[in-house]
Amino acid sequence: MERVLEPEVMDDELQAIAYAKADFSASNQAFVDGLIEAYPSNLGVVLDIGCGPGDIAIRLARAKSSVYVVAVDASEAMVCLAHEAAETADLLRRVRVVHGRVPGLRLRQGGFDAIVSKDLLHHLPEPRAFWEEVKRIGRPGTAVYVMDLFRPESEEAARQIVESVSPDEHEILKRDFYNSLLAAFTPDEVRDQLRQVGLGFEVEVVSERHLRIRGSL
Ligand SMILES: C[S@@+](CC[C@H](N)C(=O)[O-])C[C@H]1O[C@@H](n2cnc3c(N)ncnc32)[C@H](O)[C@@H]1O
Repeated sequence: MERVLEPEVMDDELQAIAYAKADFSASNQAFVDGLIEAYPSNLGVVLDIGCGPGDIAIRLARAKSSVYVVAVDASEAMVCLAHEAAETADLLRRVRVVHGRVPGLRLRQGGFDAIVSKDLLHHLPEPRAFWEEVKRIGRPGTAVYVMDLFRPESEEAARQIVESVSPDEHEILKRDFYNSLLAAFTPDEVRDQLRQVGLGFEVEVVSERHLRIRGSL
């Protein structure tokens, strides 16, 4: 099945609220646990690109008191939700939420021990921009830990994933999830992207819908 692009930035307020209300706790916690297990010495200053409503930044800050997270998103609506969530969690001293878009994030280059991102890559029309940005902002030794959906074989398979993972979610969320599956990359496409920018990261299928990409700069 060919890739079908979806709107890049989730800047519709209702869409952002539907996303924030959905229960992604299992995959978000698995993401955080996997990061901590894989890169225990890189849990200082962490950049979360495409942070959405901030659940991962908050889970990470809660799990490790050493962590300071800079959480960035191109959607004003998501940035507001993430800031509110960090405030409610009393974590504003260790979770800084900023508005910014890949490519061209205005962040200090070389200032991050780890760069993480979950479910952002498939939003990008040109994924190479993401990997170039990771190289530009990171430094030698920065851990990179990314998870994203991968594209199923067919539209029918995508519909089945949506119904099995989110049967009772809001229609807006189900529509976005389906569109995201169609916009996602295959594992081989991600391997090609990495080869093109000279990053030797590992790409693994870790669930019926997620890929994990990890390595160090
Ligand atoms: C599916 S959400 C994932 C949110 C969060 N990482 C999570 O897993 O819960 C993707 C997020 O990426 C953001 N995004 C899309 N394109 C972006 C870009 N070029 N730069 C920064 N953020 C972007 C969207 O606004 C949205 O909040």
